[in-house]
Amino acid sequence: MQALTVIPGTAGSVELTDAPEPPDGDGAVLVEGLAVGVCGTDREIVAGEYGEAPPAAQRLVIGHESLGRVLEAPDGAGLEPGDLAVGIVRRPDPVPCANCAAGEWDMCRNGRFTERGIKGRHGYASERYRLEPEFAVRLDPGLDRVGVLMEPTSVVAKAWEHLERIGHRAAWAPRKVLVTGAGPIGLLAALLGVQRGWDVRVLDRVRTGVKPQLVADLGATYHTDLSDVDSDSDVIIECTGAAPLVADVMARNAHNAVVCLTGVSSRGRPLEVDVGGLNRDIVLQNDVVFGSVNANRRHYEQAAVALSRADRGWLERLVTRRVPIGDFADALDRRDGDVKVVLDIAR
Ligand code: BGC
Repeated sequence: MQALTVIPGTAGSVELTDAPEPPDGDGAVLVEGLAVGVCGTDREIVAGEYGEAPPAAQRLVIGHESLGRVLEAPDGAGLEPGDLAVGIVRRPDPVPCANCAAGEWDMCRNGRFTERGIKGRHGYASERYRLEPEFAVRLDPGLDRVGVLMEPTSVVAKAWEHLERIGHRAAWAPRKVLVTGAGPIGLLAALLGVQRGWDVRVLDRVRTGVKPQLVADLGATYHTDLSDVDSDSDVIIECTGAAPLVADVMARNAHNAVVCLTGVSSRGRPLEVDVGGLNRDIVLQNDVVFGSVNANRRHYEQAAVALSRADRGWLERLVTRRVPIGDFADALDRRDGDVKVVLDIAR
């Protein structure tokens, strides 16, 4: 079967290669790959900057934002042949640490977790793969065009869950959330905010393309300049990883604000910041700044509910390009106007 693979650490090694059928040891659920989403992590892996092959393998099958159709599932797996399924990305570390032992592998404490398509395990950009039933999540059958948005939605479901838990450290009546970045993560974070009844503002630098309308259609407001947004956000979900903006949003918020950082920035671009002033603001306002990555099964289940409640047409407009897997180079190439680019695997 065909799979999209790289030699981790080697830029320019991405290829559609002939791969063996998935081994039974990967799990009892056999899945036909329908599509994978492309994200910044995939582009970093393809650039040779991130990623790790499974032990003893030279190449890594990439793809962690999956959508597939179940071909075989054992009794009691909670899935039937024909069901749409999404594979969870992370697997617990082997120790396991206290969090991995409790099913909270997204909070792994020793870093020895593995991730399909990213770190030490093959991913989902292949014609077939296997999943352990506990790492396979069933999806509403009507989500066949957009189910590939599950993984990024699980990431923002976790962010929302954690920020709400933090908010409840004291009496809390928040209303206003600012989401920075109108890429897939930002737009999905905004969707979950609207579904929760929050007053949602989205900041992005682009003035054209689909983003302003996607935000307006959610009932949220769109801004291109942080200075036009009042500094009264109870929650900020930062989805750009752009260092100057990260520093700004830590300072421009309401008292008791919770700032959730989700963007993975590049290292090595130092920035002059008044750390003393920033610290003073955070302390005197009881603010919390925290980072959030990955998701556990509970968050995937929350994401499945959020997607099935969302407007299908709106979700479809988030997928701005669908590219056959043979044209992977096109999909990996960033284009103006892209929100989510999807590689179609099934012929
Ligand atoms: C994925 C996460 C993963 C992270 C770091 C992100 O692109 O969505 O699931 O934990 O990369 O590898």
